[in-house]
Amino acid sequence: MKKYIFAFASASLLVACAPKVIVEQEVTPIKEQTETKPEVKYLEGKTLFDTNCGKCHDLPHPSQYSKAQWAKIVPPMSKEAKLDPTQENQILLYVQYGAMN
Ligand code: HEC
Repeated sequence: MKKYIFAFASASLLVACAPKVIVEQEVTPIKEQTETKPEVKYLEGKTLFDTNCGKCHDLPHPSQYSKAQWAKIVPPMSKEAKLDPTQENQILLYVQYGAMN
């Protein structure tokens, strides 16, 4: 009799909890990263920018240029800094995020 009650209790627990758990695991982290914490998305680009772009001149600030200006500046400068296209793209994302427009 005890066994029967236990099995019934755990079965209804599973049914009650399963949908909630799936929703929290799949939706919340993605939303946090892309919407409520944009800095997470740009962290890689910021690190690359901070470590590579202040070697030959003072480190520029993203707000010093417009998005369009950054699009022209970053490709030749990434070549100067010997970065690969992925890194170049991450830096561009970061500086355009903080750009003046
Ligand atoms: C190997 C040296 C070197 C590295 C590394 C370097 N730069 Fe430069 N940068 C220069 C020189 C030289 C100039 C000035 C001459 C020119 O404009 O081409 C310059 C100019 C600039 C300017 C001013 C451009 C303008 O038109 O006013 C910006 C902004 C800039 N760099 C950003 C960056 C960024 C972002 C990075 C990292 C991806 C970077 N630089 C890495 C050498 C470098």
